[in-house]
Amino acid sequence: MTPPTPLIAGNWKMNGTGQALVEARAIAAAATDAGVRLALCPPATLLERMSREVAGTKLEVGGQDCHAEASGAFTGDVSAEMLAEAGAQLVILGHSERRAGYGETDAAVAAKASAALRAGLEPIICVGETRAEREEGRALAVVTGQIRGSLPAELAGKAFTVAYEPVWAIGTGLTPTLEDITEVHHAIRATLMDMFGEAGAAPAILYGGSVKPGNAAEILALPEVGGALVGGASLKAADFLAIVAGAPKA
Ligand code: PGA
Repeated sequence: MTPPTPLIAGNWKMNGTGQALVEARAIAAAATDAGVRLALCPPATLLERMSREVAGTKLEVGGQDCHAEASGAFTGDVSAEMLAEAGAQLVILGHSERRAGYGETDAAVAAKASAALRAGLEPIICVGETRAEREEGRALAVVTGQIRGSLPAELAGKAFTVAYEPVWAIGTGLTPTLEDITEVHHAIRATLMDMFGEAGAAPAILYGGSVKPGNAAEILALPEVGGALVGGASLKAADFLAIVAGAPKA
C-alpha cells in the first residue's frame, strides 16, 4: 500500500477574526507547490468566509469540533452537516482541550467521528497522554486505549487521520524526543492495523504539540510521522509555511 499523503493542518483554536483571513490567503497561495496536503481549521465563525476565499486553491479547511447529532436543541453547538455546508472538508475531533475542558470521553469522540463520516467530512482524531501518564510509564497504554475507544468501526476503509498530541507538549514549547514520537506512532499504527486490517495502513498519523519552524523538519522526517497538527505556529502564514517547507515532499 502506498504511504498516506502527508497532511499539515493548522488549528487556530479560539483565535482569528476577519483580519486573519490574510494569513489564510497567503497559505492558500503556497498550497499548490507545497508537495503535501495543507489545511487550516479556523473558528467556526470564519469557516464559510475562509472556504470562499481559498476556493479553487489546494488549501483545505476544517472545523475544530462538531456535535454528534445533525441538528436539535444543543445550544452553542455546531453539527458536522453545518461545518460541511460552510465549506469544511475536515474536522478535528477529541482535541485534548475538549477532552480536558469539556469532559469529552472516547465514546463521545467516536460518536462525533461517525457524525463526521455521515456529513462527508474527514475526521482528524486526536489522542495523547498527560505528563503524569507519561511519567507513570503509561503513555502507550493510554494512547492505544484512546485509539480503540475513539475510532468507530465504520471508519474502516474511509478517509481519516489520527493526530498524536501529548497533552504536556501542547502550547508549552516542550516536545517528546524523536524516539518517543516514533515509539508512540508505531504503537498507533499497530493498533490501527489490528482494528482495521490492511486498511489500517492508509491513515496518516500526524504529530502535534509545539511544532515550530525550528523543530518541524526533524519531526516530519521521521518515517512514521505523516504530517503535523500545528496550533500557535499556524496563526502566521510565515511560520506555518516555514514548517511546510521542512516537510519531505510526497
Ligand atoms: P501548539 O498546539 O502547536 O500550539 O502546541 C497544537 C495543538 O493543540 O493542536
